[in-house]
Amino acid sequence: MRGLRPQAVAARIGEIASGTARFADQWPTGQDVEILPLARRALEEVGMRYLFSEDAPTLLPFASQLFLAREVLVRPSRWAWPRWVPTPARRFRTRQQVAFTNALRPIVRRRRSSGRLGDDVLGQMLRPSSRYGLLREEAILDALPGITVATFETPSRAAGWIMLHLARYPQAAGRVAAEAALLPADPAATTSTHLDSLRYTQALVREVLRLHPPSWLLTRRATRRTRLADYTIEAGSTVLVCPYTAQRDAREHSEPDRFRPERWLDDSGSPAKPGIFLSFGTGPHGCEGAALAMAMLTLLTAQTARCYHLSEPLEPERSYRLTTFGGLATAGLRLRATLRS
Ligand code: HEM
Repeated sequence: MRGLRPQAVAARIGEIASGTARFADQWPTGQDVEILPLARRALEEVGMRYLFSEDAPTLLPFASQLFLAREVLVRPSRWAWPRWVPTPARRFRTRQQVAFTNALRPIVRRRRSSGRLGDDVLGQMLRPSSRYGLLREEAILDALPGITVATFETPSRAAGWIMLHLARYPQAAGRVAAEAALLPADPAATTSTHLDSLRYTQALVREVLRLHPPSWLLTRRATRRTRLADYTIEAGSTVLVCPYTAQRDAREHSEPDRFRPERWLDDSGSPAKPGIFLSFGTGPHGCEGAALAMAMLTLLTAQTARCYHLSEPLEPERSYRLTTFGGLATAGLRLRATLRS
């Protein structure tokens, strides 16, 4: 998708950095604070601004409801209802999608009729592309609820894991803080050159995503009979790919269970080998938002470590619950921030 490509993200780093800075600004110091809602609110605003610019405030409340609808839908239930049964969770999701679409439609029409399409992701979708030509209004309205939630749902889960690692590895956090000291005081002045200079911070984000990929299980349906390694996969079979176990395979990652961001800095681990890092998937359906996600998470990590030391509550075994059903997450994670001198 054009608006999510690395060059498009690089052109908007100042805007992204201003949004991620709000996460650290809003963190109340000196008390245990639940992190995931805080991260989600900050990243929701960043994601919505990135997609819709000045129309973001109108759509923001609907985006929060879309997120809630997904949370309710993926909660484990005792009954496996067939897909066609309109369970309360499915009806709730449909209502939220309709509400979001009804709020978005006048924005799409206004932009089209005024000719002021905008330079954001919606603006790019309103322009004809060489591959798809001019998209129909319904195609745009169908695609955007999913893209909207994608901009903040998985990134906020990743942010939870990253904050936990900053708390558990103070030396690594100190190294991130030292790098972040070079960022401009005004986040809006941050550029892609600043982002590129945060090499250790990027390595830390990548290492956390290797150990705790929020999308820990991917599925594919074989469209024809296929040989894969020593296996024959029949047409119609579902193949499960587990980035969590693949990324802890000692044949590809030395000391696979150890948190060692440096592995992404030195050449020895050949991190560029295809398939070695699957947290953003791979192939034609790999994550379209990987560049945006890496920019948001790297900036949020650097800005937070620059301001604070993080610590877990005194009984760390109670600081979070591991959940897997809506993505690998640190549900209920509470951390404490104290100002870094
Ligand atoms: C840490 C953050 C993120 C992670 C770990 C992540 C992970 C993934 C993964 C693993 C897939 C592939 C799923 C599969 O193969 O079945 C995927 C797909 C996708 N992601 Fe992300 N994602 C993240 C952030 C984002 C963001 C910020 C966006 C922005 C809109 C986004 C948009 C998408 C889209 C549109 C797809 C579908 C691609 C397709 O099917 O062609 N993601 N993501």
